[in-house]
Amino acid sequence: MDSMKRVGVGASAQEQAEDWLRYGEELGLGPYYRGRAPMHLPGADSSVTPPALIANAAGPVAAAADRRSPEASSSGTHRLQTMAPKLAVASASALAPAGALPSLFESFDRIVGDTLPVIREDIGDCTRCKLHKARTNIVFGVGNSKAELLFVGEGPGHDEDIKGEPFVGRAGKLLTQMIEAMGLRREDVYIANVVKCRPPENRLPEKDEITTCSPFLMRQIDVIKPKVVCCLGSCAAQTLLQTTQGISKFRGEWFDFRGGKLIATYHPAYLLRNPPAKSEVWKDLQKVMSHLGLQPRKR
Ligand code: URA
Repeated sequence: MDSMKRVGVGASAQEQAEDWLRYGEELGLGPYYRGRAPMHLPGADSSVTPPALIANAAGPVAAAADRRSPEASSSGTHRLQTMAPKLAVASASALAPAGALPSLFESFDRIVGDTLPVIREDIGDCTRCKLHKARTNIVFGVGNSKAELLFVGEGPGHDEDIKGEPFVGRAGKLLTQMIEAMGLRREDVYIANVVKCRPPENRLPEKDEITTCSPFLMRQIDVIKPKVVCCLGSCAAQTLLQTTQGISKFRGEWFDFRGGKLIATYHPAYLLRNPPAKSEVWKDLQKVMSHLGLQPRKR
């Protein structure tokens, strides 16, 4: 840990790093943290510094895009040049303050041989965060394990908690209609949430709950490898893009995300309260359809 001090990371950051490492160990990611090849950034002694910390020095999202984009060429430029800077701007202006450590996502590599049943088994009868206290069922996720399109919501509501399935209440019915309007069936896509247990009174998931639960979502995404991740609402979008910017600033924009594309649109529950926003969401979904070569359902 001395090496972290050498590159200017303060004591509390060091503690956070140790927490992350411990958490990674708990999730079975220990060998990844210890064994990954060092990255090379000017001014950083990468032979002694955990790669995640070095990546943070260049801006967490920008660094993530560099490492993960399949479009990244050997010169480091992206085919989607209009997207990368947009994301970088979001990261520079709205992400965690300098010195804060990257999220687990930055340092989260695919787990070789991971499967959805293994992830479910790892979650177990989870008591990792306080949401377990009031839940009825863990809402793992549902749909096609080879889906090209994966929707991510915020967290289960009352109906989902009872049924153990995401998006089965009023907002869920609207999501199903949206999926069908895209020429798909609900069972063609995969649907998951940032947190897998219902937040009491349908409040927003809290930071510690998101931090604890979202690595399982990341594993689900990595196993399914969808061509498109569609974030429904700001909780999903801000979590996956690691930004605090409002969703209206980047909704409908494409981002590179772990080998595929990510787009954010408004949450169906918002559409129930604000039906005029449906036209904006439909525009976003049409972008997804065009990327996936889908035809709208014939009426
Ligand atoms: N809202 C969500 O974000 N997820 C659900 O599963 C249901 C409602």
